[in-house]
Amino acid sequence: MSEGNGSARGGRGGGSAGEAAAAASRLTARDLTLAYEDRTVVDGLDLDIPHGAVTVVVGPNACGKSTLLRALGRLLKPRRGAVLLDGTDLARLPTRMIARSVGLLPQSPVAPEAITVADLVSRGRQPHQHWWQQWSEADERAVAEAMDRTDVTQLADRAVDELSGGQRQRVWIAMALAQETDLLLLDEPTTYLDIAHQVEVLDLIRQLNHDRGRTVVAVLHDLNQAARYADHLVAMKQGRVVAQGRPTAVVTAHLVRDVFGLESVVVPDPVTGSPLVVPGRPWQAPGTAAAAPGSE
Ligand SMILES: Nc1ncnc2c1ncn2[C@@H]1O[C@H](COP(=O)(O)OP(=O)(O)OP(=O)(O)O)[C@@H](O)[C@H]1O
Ligand SMILES: [Mg+2]
Repeated sequence: MSEGNGSARGGRGGGSAGEAAAAASRLTARDLTLAYEDRTVVDGLDLDIPHGAVTVVVGPNACGKSTLLRALGRLLKPRRGAVLLDGTDLARLPTRMIARSVGLLPQSPVAPEAITVADLVSRGRQPHQHWWQQWSEADERAVAEAMDRTDVTQLADRAVDELSGGQRQRVWIAMALAQETDLLLLDEPTTYLDIAHQVEVLDLIRQLNHDRGRTVVAVLHDLNQAARYADHLVAMKQGRVVAQGRPTAVVTAHLVRDVFGLESVVVPDPVTGSPLVVPGRPWQAPGTAAAAPGSE
């Protein structure tokens, strides 16, 4: 599959904020090369994140998704090339300014020991505070709203390290939301969540995009959720973008085979019409008769 397969346009055709997506990109990667010591993970990658749209990055384990996201959030310095925010190299922008524009939820964040939920979420407000005013009503409102939207208000006084994996994940999302940035980078935000909370978080992402025009980049492993929620889907393999565009253009049986090495059938999602990837038959013991659908 060639790079740039499918349309590069965002937009779901339904009047969402994603429609303006193709118009501009505030966050772009140019000739981005990322490495850990002598191991190059991403090599010469060019990527435009459509402004005001939801971009979802998919790809197999270790293909470089988290590495890319960290570079987009300036947690990782490029070996070559640059990430540009509104045309300026991130490396040349003050940290505080980036923190007010770009929020990043890493894949495995680590909380300070014994910190409470309310205190951790409040840390999302640090980029907005000044020496003359440590805490404002706006901070209070942003934290309360973020906790409400992620369903963690009732956990406010609990210690983060005593929570379940899913509760903790929602607290981290709350912290990223409390930062109130126009750009939100979320690395596997649905990890550890039960199916209802997964849908809740993904719906929340769409709401933030629709109501507030937030630009979101999320890494997801579930291809079907990616196809449902993305305006713009980016498929990566071995540090390269192998396809990007609208999910209907990107998610094909050919792509799933090429990127994941998995045989599948792609059918329309019965609820949304977006591509639904149905993996091939599960392994069966030799000689076992395969039951046809509906024959039991
Ligand atoms: N801190 C690090 N030091 C050295 N190598 C690293 C580091 N972080 C990641 N890598 C390597 O870089 C490659 C890409 O890792 P990355 O975390 O970006 O993958 P990923 O696509 O996010 O995978 P996953 O789906 O498992 O989260 C892997 O080979 C990994 O071993
Ligand atoms: Mg990762």
